[in-house]
Amino acid sequence: MSEAFRGEVPDFHGRVGWQCPSNIALVKYWGKKGKQIPQNPSISFTLSKCCTETFVEFEKADRFGFSFFFEGKENPAFGAKIEKLLLDNLAFFPFINQLDWKVESRNTFPHSSGIASSASSMSAFVMCLLEIESLLVSPSTGSGTLTKASYFSRLASGSAARSVFPSMALWGKTESYEGSSDEYAVSLENDIHPVFNTYHDSILIVSGETKSVSSRAGHALMEGNPYAPARYAQANENIKNLLPALKSGDLATFINITESEALQLHALMMCSNPSFILMKPNTLNIINEIRLFREETHIPLCFTLDAGPNVHLLYPEIEAEKVEKFINDNLAAYCVDNKWISDHVGDGPKKLL
Ligand code: PMV
Repeated sequence: MSEAFRGEVPDFHGRVGWQCPSNIALVKYWGKKGKQIPQNPSISFTLSKCCTETFVEFEKADRFGFSFFFEGKENPAFGAKIEKLLLDNLAFFPFINQLDWKVESRNTFPHSSGIASSASSMSAFVMCLLEIESLLVSPSTGSGTLTKASYFSRLASGSAARSVFPSMALWGKTESYEGSSDEYAVSLENDIHPVFNTYHDSILIVSGETKSVSSRAGHALMEGNPYAPARYAQANENIKNLLPALKSGDLATFINITESEALQLHALMMCSNPSFILMKPNTLNIINEIRLFREETHIPLCFTLDAGPNVHLLYPEIEAEKVEKFINDNLAAYCVDNKWISDHVGDGPKKLL
């Protein structure tokens, strides 16, 4: 980890800005223990266009001050998770309560798209926090390491740990990957076949409603779920089999594991108590169409789902023209206002200022 600043903050003010992408999990993180420790390892694609842009204005103050603006309007409820992250980590960053913090945040994806923004927003804020720390340690140098950013992003939102790395990331200790950790994600960038860097994620908006079960409640429901031990074993097995498939470019195995993980996530919610059905009829209609299309065309298109009804279509760039025609001709009609978002695998965080 990069150097920490432990002294008295000098006369100090400024503004930093970072953009961080969201990510979509292939092997899902669902169930946690202790301090944001995952019950099983997970793997994701880092996205490119679905991002949060965060600016932090800071000034030396006698005591901690905090305000949060979302898309130009003050929004203390949206800022609560960030404020908590700051106050929970005073021991790591003693300068936190010697500053007044004004945080401004916006998403590059539409508000009512049902896309969770916690991964992108928490990682964007942590990049800003680490840049402020690095300015205190050495005013002319850049920000802290991505591993440190991943560690603190995880404390705010587990999946955010994976958003700070380009291309693909693995979070959670597994025997199948040396250097993996429950406390931070690691980059898979150098362990994947080039085809995966060309992957598209077309997000079909089946519903723009906010999630009916928060991920916090969802993780907690795993504690009483009778299938939890089998699920964690299965996730480990899927990681073990997916890693070599990612390396060799084995798309058949990739498709098989990715779709099975998405359906398992939803199955777990259906058999928790209380239970939740997060798919909508059009989620299933789209899934059925995708499977038929794949059978007929042999194009390696597959789907994944987050904890909601929207469908993520995953496919390599080389198939983009045919798949996008298929989306517009056959699937857009299942979407709210025919809406779908075109995203692809991306390069990770970007400094804005
Ligand atoms: O990071 P959280 O606590 O919002 O949990 C994310 C859980 C899923 O998005 C459903 C799966 C994942 O691994 O991203």
